[in-house]
Amino acid sequence: MKYSLMHPCAWLFMAICLFFSLPACATRTPTDKRPEAAVKGETKVLVAYMTWSGHLRTLAEWVADESKGELFRILTVNPYPESYTEAIMRSKEELNNNTLPELATHIPPEIMAKYNTIYIGFPIWWYDVPMPVRTFAKEYDFAGKKIIPFFSHQGTSDGGQSAKTLKAIFPKSEVVSDMLSIRGTKAKDSEAAVRAWVKKQK
Ligand SMILES: Cc1cc2nc3c(=O)[nH]c(=O)nc-3n(C[C@H](O)[C@H](O)[C@H](O)COP(=O)(O)O)c2cc1C
Repeated sequence: MKYSLMHPCAWLFMAICLFFSLPACATRTPTDKRPEAAVKGETKVLVAYMTWSGHLRTLAEWVADESKGELFRILTVNPYPESYTEAIMRSKEELNNNTLPELATHIPPEIMAKYNTIYIGFPIWWYDVPMPVRTFAKEYDFAGKKIIPFFSHQGTSDGGQSAKTLKAIFPKSEVVSDMLSIRGTKAKDSEAAVRAWVKKQK
């Protein structure tokens, strides 16, 4: 007797999509594709971030303001789909195949050399650091720089595998373990928490 027409993995995939999408649906902003202005290397602090639906942009702006850092957005040549399900599928495929998507935004090496502290902001994707952040980590020489991670999530509040992954992708840097974790749906109400955390990093 047949109980299910679908492969068990398909059920699991649907359950995971539902888990991440339901709480976020109500407040999620539309997919955000705006780039930042070019960085100039006029301070020693860079705030590099990636976002799909905009929460990280909100957080990164406060981080940059409080740290007097310059904002840089990590964008891919091939943008992630507007559709949540399609974004979920593409990101899973990239993670499984260890694909590093090509980036559309870059920092000239002589400007990157001026920063000694890099805040790095990202949404948790599949319990881990999204692949574009890994492309970014591979593109520059971060030797001796301090990496301070912050992320938003929709349930994976401890960042899942992120801490381990960040140590692996920034092998020559000091990766700060006091990561800032903000629930995406609370991002807009977290200015005080973000600023307090940045103050602790100085
Ligand atoms: C492709 C994809 C995968 C996700 N995977 C997770 C996850 O594993 N754990 C989690 O808590 N949230 C997950 N989320 C939810 C996002 O981390 C969360 O909504 C975050 O606040 C989005 O930030 P953003 O608006 O800057 O893109 C995922 C979202 C997307 C689009």
